Amino acid sequence: MLQAAFCRRGRALSARANDSPSWRSPYTVDSSSVALAPDQVSFTAAVISSIYPDIKFALDVRVHEDGVVRVRMDEVDGIRKRYNEAASWALLDEPKASRDIQWTVRKKDLRAVYGSMKDVELVVSFDPLKVTLLRNGKEQVVLNGRGLLHMEHFRTKESVAQSKPPMDIPEEGFDVDDSNQVVMQANSRTAWFEGETEDGWWEETFSSWTDSKPKGPESLSIDIDFPNHGHLYGIPQHATRLDLPTTTGENAYYSDPYRLYNADVFEYLADSTMSLYGSIPVLHAHSADSTVGVFDAVASETWIDVSRPASTSTHTHWISESGILDVFILPGPTPSDVFAQYTGLTGTPALPAHWALGYHQCRWNYVSSDDVRSVQKRFDEEDMPVDVFWLDIEYAEDHKYFVWDKKNFPDPVDMTHDVEALARKMVVIVDPHLKRTSDYPVYQQAMELGVLVKQKDGNNDYEGWCWSGSASWPDFFNPASWDWWKSLFKTEQHGSQWSWLESTVNTFIWNDMNEPAVFNGPEISMPRDNIHYGGWEHRDVHNINGMLFSNLTSQAVIDRTDPPRRPFVLTRSFYAGSQRFGAMWTGDNLGTWEHMAVGVKMVLANNIAGFSFAGSDVGGFFGNPEPEMLVRWYGVGAFAPFFRAHAHIDTKRREPYLLDEPYKSLVRGILRLRYSMLPIWYTAFREASVTGLPVLRPHYVAFPHDEAGFPIDDQYFIGSSGLLVKPVTNKDVTEMSVYLPEDQVYYDYFSEHVYRGAPAGKEVTVPAELHQIPLLIRGGSIIPTRERPRRSSPLMKHDPFTLRVALDKDGGARGELYLDDGETYFHREGNIVWRELSAEKPAKKSKSLRISSRDLALQKPTQAVEGVALSKYSGANEFARSMEKVRVEKIIVLGLPAKPTSVRVEGGKELEWEFNQGIASSDKQEGTASALVIKDPRVSIVSDWDIIVAA
Ligand code: GLC
Repeated sequence: MLQAAFCRRGRALSARANDSPSWRSPYTVDSSSVALAPDQVSFTAAVISSIYPDIKFALDVRVHEDGVVRVRMDEVDGIRKRYNEAASWALLDEPKASRDIQWTVRKKDLRAVYGSMKDVELVVSFDPLKVTLLRNGKEQVVLNGRGLLHMEHFRTKESVAQSKPPMDIPEEGFDVDDSNQVVMQANSRTAWFEGETEDGWWEETFSSWTDSKPKGPESLSIDIDFPNHGHLYGIPQHATRLDLPTTTGENAYYSDPYRLYNADVFEYLADSTMSLYGSIPVLHAHSADSTVGVFDAVASETWIDVSRPASTSTHTHWISESGILDVFILPGPTPSDVFAQYTGLTGTPALPAHWALGYHQCRWNYVSSDDVRSVQKRFDEEDMPVDVFWLDIEYAEDHKYFVWDKKNFPDPVDMTHDVEALARKMVVIVDPHLKRTSDYPVYQQAMELGVLVKQKDGNNDYEGWCWSGSASWPDFFNPASWDWWKSLFKTEQHGSQWSWLESTVNTFIWNDMNEPAVFNGPEISMPRDNIHYGGWEHRDVHNINGMLFSNLTSQAVIDRTDPPRRPFVLTRSFYAGSQRFGAMWTGDNLGTWEHMAVGVKMVLANNIAGFSFAGSDVGGFFGNPEPEMLVRWYGVGAFAPFFRAHAHIDTKRREPYLLDEPYKSLVRGILRLRYSMLPIWYTAFREASVTGLPVLRPHYVAFPHDEAGFPIDDQYFIGSSGLLVKPVTNKDVTEMSVYLPEDQVYYDYFSEHVYRGAPAGKEVTVPAELHQIPLLIRGGSIIPTRERPRRSSPLMKHDPFTLRVALDKDGGARGELYLDDGETYFHREGNIVWRELSAEKPAKKSKSLRISSRDLALQKPTQAVEGVALSKYSGANEFARSMEKVRVEKIIVLGLPAKPTSVRVEGGKELEWEFNQGIASSDKQEGTASALVIKDPRVSIVSDWDIIVAA
């Protein structure tokens, strides 16, 4: 991979540090300047670097109410201003700094002690500058502990030339001791630190492109180390393992650092640190006794080196092209704490519309309105559920988004109504490149408003090439673009403004190419010296650019109806905070087993980085997957939060109904399985939207103390449901080994075979022939499903529920179910059903069981729904009343020790039930579980009830 010049500089600095035993950071805090800031909650201090004593930096350190530490540093009175707005786009709100911190300023450092047990300590050492977070005296996170901090100050070419003394640099100029420094000439004094060459300071060439770098060097390097944490996860998007392999040090797995520079990459590698479409600069460091994290709010290109100096400790080195230092330290100490801390900053994933969790059918392209109709018809004829039909760029006349190609789509609104007739939706693509032509009102308006991204001169609109040919790009950093963009999505005329009258409120949006992709630009993107609103260069804001597009589009979709409805916006490019605006997918994957497998890991990485609503193109974007692969790919997609099949324009049609038997029936079965599990997915999304806990939970999240699980990234849990899945991503598989992390029973979802884990973890072999997916229920879980096949998810609204009560080894179980109207925001006013389902033995030795349903929203009104405390919640709310008649039609209890003598709703008559004893294996721990099937207990899903299973 070609590394950018600033990355080479940062890496060279790190190499010099490694080679020099006496290396010491030149950055120091002027202890006399340390002061409580005017806001009374943060400390500021002046920082200088001994190599440029005239340049001034300001440090600002604060501790938020939840214990997160924010460390900021910027150059003061420089000849230019560094970009300092990245956090303002990523953060939900300005976080509140805590007043409840004991700060002490001493001669050599500034300290803060906090936490409910006063066990957390933040130390800002002055000479050299170093920031350390400790818990119980143990180092957790260290900034600049290895002295790699470097904020290249602004300089001019002329001043650099003048300061050069006409002499050779002394070889020994690399070692620093105070006396030495004083006598050294200016350039030798800087050379030990900055290197001897001006590598790419003023200009840089990428193939035929020259980046003019008018601001000169301004990169930022910082080492962030995690002593006592041997595993790192995060910094998506990369096609790599979840447990991040090393990039430097002995036996480094990769030779290049992880790169974050949102890019449209053609046929990306399935095992690489190369940058892809999105960037979330958040990292978890994990060990068996602690999880911590950092979020580096920088928007420019960033490279991250990872090394593991010992099995229990990890080092990282972050090198960014521009921007201020703005690092958030997430103190943990558990994965759940880190999720709460990170989503406290950047927001929890939005609760999606319920239908968006159904199956999405896409391809480049359904070529006409009749094509869409016939695809819909075929799904219905084959009894395959689907919620959404998608249109790629060919719907748009000359790729002028919003403008229908009337030759092929003469009746777009009628077509949409035909889709809506089965309660389905459409998603239509709107890319950010606006065709530069006078007959395109969207472009014309943007131009007239002056809201297009400018060339490096700052005056003329930038022009580049994308699908539409010659195009310009709206600059969503410019507030003047916001109302205009929102008005485009109105489905009714508002004044003289052009709006998308040929759409309906069930037309949702796919935002693609928003890195932005520019076919004739450097690295298929925009020149870095392009100018955005406020005079910022594109390089300063690049990684945030795509997020603004989906942010504005989602606002537009919310705003087009009154009362507002939840939006659905799929984005390809993303940043920290994008989880607030919709879903993402992993871009143009290949139809290969490797890509199928790495897609699972990538979706997990997004989940732990706050962005749960994620998926990969089912089938692979490029290529023609053979039937076996397609079936397996559906098995992967059905267990991803976002489930969409998509294919390149040059591929053969591969809608699931086109498959021959037995493949067609297998895919039908998988689609139905997904639909039956929508209650589980939706419940998991409620939890994510409130707590920030991801929808998909890898082992280190679910079992943070179990070391053997830390590298596992091919099996995971769905929310708190207790479902553990290991999708098959290889050819010719007949069985799979699944890791059970604990001494607990796990039941095969389909066969009800019971497996028994072990205290130290255990691998079990689970059947995985083509008609099977390794899917286990953790003992102790209650799984609510809806098992009536329907054509789309809204048609399931009043369907009855099945409950699988999977007893744990002690004979108990618990589960949750969350429901609301799935479309509006009335849930925020308490129109919800949130139930706790439980199964308990009345006494320890009893063989009887009490299965109950209770109102969880009454117990936890503050946690019921995102963003609001339901102070006036009532179990008899309007939504709950509309669901009163929805009943539980079946309860399956797995793992009862003995046949019951009676089963009845408390105080009621005997119910109809069947008991199958199961077959225990010789060691009595594994075999087929006993199953009690209670038929139609006639209890409502919204009311409190108890069923007594007596034995
Ligand atoms: C990009 C997208 C792909 C889409 C194509 C045409 O390659 O990643 O999903 O089909 O553009 O819009």
